[in-house]
Amino acid sequence: MSSLNQALRAALDRRQDLLAELHQQGTDCYRLFHGSQEGAGGLTIDRYGPQLLVQSFHQSLERDALLQLHDTVNQHLGLDTLLVYNDRSGGNSRIDREDRIYRADEAALQDLIGHEWGLNYRVRGRHAGQDPLLFLDLRNTRGWVKAHSQDKTVLNLFAYTCGVGLSAAAGGAREVCNLDFAEGNLAVGRENGLLNPQLPGMQFIQSDYFPAIRQLAGLPVSQRRGHKLPSYPRLEPRQYDLVLLDPPAWAKSAFGTVDLLRDYQSLLKPALLATADDGVLICCNNLAKVGMDDWREQVLRCAEKAGRPVREWTVMKPGGDFPSMDQQPPLKTLILQL
Ligand SMILES: C[S@@+](CC[C@H](N)C(=O)[O-])C[C@H]1O[C@@H](n2cnc3c(N)ncnc32)[C@H](O)[C@@H]1O
Repeated sequence: MSSLNQALRAALDRRQDLLAELHQQGTDCYRLFHGSQEGAGGLTIDRYGPQLLVQSFHQSLERDALLQLHDTVNQHLGLDTLLVYNDRSGGNSRIDREDRIYRADEAALQDLIGHEWGLNYRVRGRHAGQDPLLFLDLRNTRGWVKAHSQDKTVLNLFAYTCGVGLSAAAGGAREVCNLDFAEGNLAVGRENGLLNPQLPGMQFIQSDYFPAIRQLAGLPVSQRRGHKLPSYPRLEPRQYDLVLLDPPAWAKSAFGTVDLLRDYQSLLKPALLATADDGVLICCNNLAKVGMDDWREQVLRCAEKAGRPVREWTVMKPGGDFPSMDQQPPLKTLILQL
């Protein structure tokens, strides 16, 4: 047996109890192999409901090795999963559409449905973006949101495909607002809403983060000298009971730069101001090179300076399907009680 296949078997064995627990709670989307920590850097194997998504980031897999991995997973799960291989190595950060190594069956590339915490999610092996439509390392946070949203107003910032919003709606939120500048991502969020027809409707705001959050926070939307701002939706100042802030590591727009390494504060301060007294702000930082202790200090200092001191904070860790030897997972999440 190849060493890769051995590493996969060990990873599957380690997950035995976790998978039983996840299945019980209505979840069939999870990471089966987290290569960087389990013996094959740059390789991930995720289950998304009926689909098995293999992704390589450093080097392409050989076809035989890929098929062997697929076989091992199928045997272990007792399923016939639909294989999709997205080779994102060699500077190919977009999803490879040429399928040089393995051409997925048509059935694997159909619109599929995965489940998490009893909710339905759209699963698509190939789409215009590069990442899967649900980030699995945020599952525990979505579970927390679902358990703590009853009667709350909830604002989901950098909403992507609105998983956090959907979890809040399922948890009995009074109102859920998802905000993102990418219409395509919000469109998947709308699909996710339709896939769960028992839930109340959600709101979707397509806007750049900076003008939207500054208006909600009652701060001016400033323009750089000599630069006219593009138009943006007008919003009234208001606060929400529960706010989630999960920005990308870096993104530049006409309104500002999202930079989790150098300037978390300019994202955090207006989000704090848009959170109600006695409210909760959940904030994330997915940059691996930022350590939890430093970042937490920064966050707590920023809250103090903004006049919204944190009464209590909790760390939310990713699930056991995202092991980290040094206990420093790249995705750091803080639940702040204001
Ligand atoms: C890391 S994802 C967020 C993950 C998401 N919170 C979730 O639960 O899956 C980043 C999202 O930020 C959005 N985004 C990036 N820069 C933005 C900006 N300046 N304003 C609004 N949205 C932005 C992208 O469109 C993308 O959907």
